[in-house]
Amino acid sequence: MNKTYLDNASTSFPKPPCVAQAVAHFISEVGCNINRGGYENAYSAAEIVLDTREQLRRFFHSSIPVENVIFTPSVTYSLNILVKGLLKPGDHVLVSAMEHNGLMRPLVQMEKLGVTFDRIPCTPLGELILEELESMIRPNTKAVFMLHSSNVCGSVMPIAQVGAICRRHGLRFVVDSAQSAGILPIDMDTMYIDALAFTGHKSLLGPQGIGGFLITEEMAREVSPLISGGTGSISDSEETPDFLPDKFEPGTMNLPAIYGLHAALEYLEQTGIEQVYQTEMARTGEFLDGLSKLGDHLKVIGPNRTVNRGPVVSIDCLHRDNAEVAFLLDSQYGIMTRCGLHCAPNAHKTLGTFPHGTIRFAFSHYNTPQEISYALDSLTKIFQSL
Ligand SMILES: Cc1ncc(COP(=O)(O)O)c(C=O)c1O
Repeated sequence: MNKTYLDNASTSFPKPPCVAQAVAHFISEVGCNINRGGYENAYSAAEIVLDTREQLRRFFHSSIPVENVIFTPSVTYSLNILVKGLLKPGDHVLVSAMEHNGLMRPLVQMEKLGVTFDRIPCTPLGELILEELESMIRPNTKAVFMLHSSNVCGSVMPIAQVGAICRRHGLRFVVDSAQSAGILPIDMDTMYIDALAFTGHKSLLGPQGIGGFLITEEMAREVSPLISGGTGSISDSEETPDFLPDKFEPGTMNLPAIYGLHAALEYLEQTGIEQVYQTEMARTGEFLDGLSKLGDHLKVIGPNRTVNRGPVVSIDCLHRDNAEVAFLLDSQYGIMTRCGLHCAPNAHKTLGTFPHGTIRFAFSHYNTPQEISYALDSLTKIFQSL
């Protein structure tokens, strides 16, 4: 049995070796806190934190000040801050019909406080019907919140066009880049993105426990902090600082994870995300080709092509229970996938796979053609064993 990890949409594995080295370096050789101690190690850690903010600003092509790059534990935390800090009772927002619960659950919490939202419809392939957007804007619409790429089927939202519409109508535009950062190019400035939420542990190839958001000056002024506490700054006051990043970064930061993310971003800058994307599309193409020969047994859910998509392929088995097939893939062949609804119930309603869900295969640029063949052979054997 060859252990084969095909669950990279959940979290990427393996990471580039420099990531573990950087985490270990911080823990064994640096170790201190920042913004609190006036000694050399604290200054060198603060430099890495600042440099990581710079890397992220460069990576997402943003002209915001470097202190507007905010660290949080994950994209889920970032979306909670942005949803709950921006919206007030009476506000209306638009989202796509493919969103993850990282966005929908905070939004549904806010619905109970008087915020309303509508879902911009998507096709049965999970692709946004852009023409519907403008007619759904109301006088009280404040923002569009949207994922860039679906974690269920890899469809990609036209965020540049959505951003342009938001700009024309004076709406805030918030993007969940969980499944696209590190794979697809994101240009915050030209896509008119006011806040970009990211998570470090997926295709950015960093460790778990670090994420954040980049936010424009104008939007940062409109968002109230969700959590407050010590920042090491203006310590003579019990008021929360109103300047960035301190306004949104109370408490001790996850420095080991920031060191790891810093190394991962250096790796991605050196490798080039275009190169990463080409490799992942090659694997996706090999997998889709192989699946086309298993058409009697399964249906591919979402875009069945290798352009304008993410490296996430969902299948729905026609004659076998998805959970049973996923279980056999793991227990008999060592192939790790994810089965079910992937925290996105409405995406499955859009795709026609609710409530049973799909088996999701998600590739990284570390996956080899041999691993794809092995997954296809294993699926074939499972279907033949019927
Ligand atoms: C589109 C999308 N948004 C949000 C999340 C939540 O990510 P995290 O658990 O890192 O906060 C995920 C994770 O699967 C995702 O795919």
